Amino acid sequence: MAIHRYYTLTLSEKLLYTSFLLLVGLGYLMATAYLYVTHEMNDNKPGLSVADVANSYYGNRSGTRLEAAIRGPMAGFIEEEDRGTMVAWLKSGAPEKTFEGDIKPILSKTCLNCHVASSGQNLPDFSSYAGLHKYAEVDTGMSMASLLKLSHIHLFGISILLFILGFIFIQSEVNVHFKRFLVVSPMIAVFVDVLAWFLTKWDAHYAVVVIVAGAVLGFSMAAQILISLYQIWLLKAPAHPDLHPPLK
Ligand code: HEC
Repeated sequence: MAIHRYYTLTLSEKLLYTSFLLLVGLGYLMATAYLYVTHEMNDNKPGLSVADVANSYYGNRSGTRLEAAIRGPMAGFIEEEDRGTMVAWLKSGAPEKTFEGDIKPILSKTCLNCHVASSGQNLPDFSSYAGLHKYAEVDTGMSMASLLKLSHIHLFGISILLFILGFIFIQSEVNVHFKRFLVVSPMIAVFVDVLAWFLTKWDAHYAVVVIVAGAVLGFSMAAQILISLYQIWLLKAPAHPDLHPPLK
């Protein structure tokens, strides 16, 4: 198929390309903002960091959320001795058979003043084993099923998006090596990004790769969008078209 140049496009085509590019750019910004607000507090500190990314895929395997709570924000509601009992119970795998006898009495002292459905505070309900259980498991991050779901949605969705974006962008006039780089790098980045999610679930150090791949994807997309928008509207046709070498 012959590739057009931007200055041979009709106004309708220019408007179609432009509105698509603007929406994709906006979508990218929204995706980044979404990532920020959903991940920034993973490590309980504001601001997005490598630890946030590691926590969401690898989890925080040093302990359970219940242990973190009774050592941290909930520490004031529990006596030293009871905390020891509860931590030992957690370390032994939080078995259901000792819940009623050992743990429930501790919870009843203060915790259940707030942590029951009837308190109306919308807090996790710890009056039953089932309610407490979620907070008593070691956090191993995103489940394999969620990872697979997220992966195929990303791979299908982003590759189509990048294909259309690239198809518009290859009509621009830039250094041909730079053009080829910008067309291929985001595709590779998406692949590496998805691969790195799985690697991060296995070893938290790979969180850095997730971030670098995301940055490459962002850079390439932004460059394609901005260069295209600029040239669609501002690149002038040469005075004599025959003098222009064919587009690579
Ligand atoms: C005065 C009310 C109150 C009492 C008593 C209380 N909590 Fe909480 N708890 C809260 C509130 C409010 C939150 C949610 C805000 C937060 O996460 O800091 C919470 C959150 C939690 C969480 C969830 C933390 C997370 O990772 O999301 C756990 C676990 C927890 N409490 C355990 C306990 C235990 C165990 C006790 C008893 C030793 C206890 N709480 C006593 C009010 C209370």
